[in-house]
Parts: sequence; structure tokens; C-alpha cells
Amino acid sequence: MSVKINGERLKERLIALSEFGKDIDGGWSRFTWTDEYNRAKELLKQWMEEAGMTVREDPMGNVFGHLAGVDDSLPVVAAGSHIDGVKCGGMFDGNVGVLGALEVITTITENKIKTRNPLEVIIFVEEDGARFNWRILGGRALLGEVTREDLDKYKDKDGISIAQAMKASGSDPDKLNEVKIDPKKYKCYYELHIEQSHLLESEGFSVGVVEGIFGSVWIKATLKGRTDHAGATPMKFRKDALVAASEINVAMERIATESGETTVGTVGWINVQPGTINTIPGKVELVFDIRDIDENNLEKAVNSIREFCSEVCKKRNIELQVEEVVRFDPIHFPKHMIDAVDEAAKEAGIASMRIASGAGHDAQILAKITDVGMIFTPSKGGLSHCPEEYTDYEDIAKGTQVLFNTILKMAEVVR
Ligand code: CO
Repeated sequence: MSVKINGERLKERLIALSEFGKDIDGGWSRFTWTDEYNRAKELLKQWMEEAGMTVREDPMGNVFGHLAGVDDSLPVVAAGSHIDGVKCGGMFDGNVGVLGALEVITTITENKIKTRNPLEVIIFVEEDGARFNWRILGGRALLGEVTREDLDKYKDKDGISIAQAMKASGSDPDKLNEVKIDPKKYKCYYELHIEQSHLLESEGFSVGVVEGIFGSVWIKATLKGRTDHAGATPMKFRKDALVAASEINVAMERIATESGETTVGTVGWINVQPGTINTIPGKVELVFDIRDIDENNLEKAVNSIREFCSEVCKKRNIELQVEEVVRFDPIHFPKHMIDAVDEAAKEAGIASMRIASGAGHDAQILAKITDVGMIFTPSKGGLSHCPEEYTDYEDIAKGTQVLFNTILKMAEVVR
């Protein structure tokens, strides 16, 4: 199939969508269930209908554009992403995947192509989770992993709960039980996304064939020493929790570096108490974010940092509490899903490289119920979640062409 997607239309739509959610502090802050978000969503629904899709929105606010297959009872071949973003983020994260999927369907109907399986574009609600600090909400609701209580519990910075925000936007938190999808409904799901890292750019490729998504473990360590006067307490009498935490943070870097080629470990949040200049810190809380595509190396790093925390705290006579707060296992996409993207890229004459995703995506949730694959496009300078986030429009068109060829392969063209 040598049909070409329309890269110019895709670019125009990305720019049109970027009108919604611009932040006066720079970049875009398109938070879920805000007026700007809802207007962006309505525009997308209009484009979906123009492309011949039947549009449905579930009570959570997830949007599904359905294009009937020759046999509409067959499982759906889906593609999509999200249109919410972080505070002062970029205009490509998520949006490229949604508009890329829409461009695929628009090209299919324009060229009167018929597929055996039905097709779907999905816009997942609240992926980045910037408003309620709770990620991949829409995707998890589709799997029945969100409770009605959760919708009251999580609130934004103004104290508005998810349920309240939903109601104000015409969504219905009390119909949450209608959101869960039948796992048998889907044949597979593909997501086109910006890489949000350096690899594709530095290696000179326009398209990345994603093999899987890094697992991530968040571990919270609470260190209790003793709060004392910074002037009156000789060094040998101190139990400084922050000095212990500093040793631990340096060790995190070493452990991640030594654990495996792809292991990453970060302490991005730390709470020092009492936090005054002339007081020895008596209590420190810190959270490790450890990730890897390789489960053995991930486990090795997690165990090593736990052991190191114990050693240091024992040596320094500091009380230690360690708690695992988040765990996502690494996901390895099925071989046939990866191979299909490889072949699709070859057919389109686009050079590609194999890559793993360090960031999480809606795809990792859907992987629990269906076969999943992803396609990456390069991020300039590796930047993302910032106003400078940029992907060359030609690269976006190439990634979308690969998505188009892949979708047609999976849904089978009927001549
Ligand atoms: Co994203």
C-alpha cells in the first residue's frame, strides 16, 4: 500500500490544537476538565466525525472515534494518546499521538480503504495527571482500577475533587461503573508518541520502534535522627538525618550506574525537617524513582539501595523506615507487534531504530488487556514537559506514515 498520509494537514491541526491551553508563564498548561481542555476535545470530536467516525464519550471523558470494519463484530484495532499536559509543558506530548491516529483514519476514509477489523481512535482522559497528581486516570478507569471514592479523594490545588471537576464538564462520576471496557473488544493498540529523550536525535533516526516500557519503582525512605542546636552540638554527638540522606543520594547514583546499562535512579523529592539554618536536621524523607526495562537489574538496584539505607542508618545511629509506594513492572511488547512496525517502516522507506521507553504511557495500562505497540518520533535536544519541547513536523509525518502502514497491516485491507 503506497497511500500517503497528509503531513501538511497534520501540521495545521497540531498548530490549531495548540491554541488551547497556552500558559502566560510560557508553554501549555492544558489541564483535564478545564474549559480549554473541553474546547480542544470538542474540536477533535468534530474532526473525528468529519473523517467518518462515530464518536462516543464515556462518563469519565475518554473519547472513542469508531470507524466500522467490513466485519464490525471483529475486535478493534485502536490507536490514540492524550491531550492533557503538565504545567508549562509542550504542544507535542500526547497531541502527536491523537492527531497522528486521526490522520491515519482521515487518510483511510479519503482513499475509500476498507479494513476487515473496525478501527478506533482513543483520547485518554488525564494521562499526565498534572491537575490531580494521579497519573493515567482515564486508562486505569477503562480497566476498572479506579473507584468512586478515588474520584472524591484526589483534589487539585484549589481543593476541587476529580468528581467535582468531572460534573462541571458534563462528565458523570456516578456512572464510573459504565466506563470499564470488555477486554475482548480489542485486537491491539498502537500509540505514536514523542520520544522525550535523546537517543533518536543523537543516532539520526526519524522513527523509533518501541520494544517496551521501563518498569518503575518508587521507594520512600524516612530517616529519623535528632534535632539539635547547630552551634552547641559537637560533631561527635550528632545524629544528622540529612548527612545520612546525602550519603544515600550519592549511593543512588552509583548503584544505578553499576546495576545495568539501562538502569536509572533519581531522588527528585526530599523533605528536611525542621528545615532551619541553625538546627541539625532531625528528620528527612526522600523518594527514590528507580527504573529499568530489565526486571533483574531493576530488582538488583532496588535491593541495593534498600541495603545501603540500612547500613548507613545503622552506622549513624539513625532510625529508618522504608516503604514501596509505586510499582509498575517493565513491559515487553509482543514480538509480532514490534515486527509489524519494523515492516511498516521498511515499506515506507523510513529508517528506524529499536528503542525502549523510559517514560510511562497509556499504552502500559492497555498492555494488561490487549497487544500493545508504540512508535516514537525524536525530541529536539531530548526536551519534553517544557515549552521548548519540539519535534520536526517532517518526523511527525514519517512516524504517522509508519502508524498508518502498521494499522492497515493489523486491520487487514479488504480489496
Ligand atoms: Co505523553
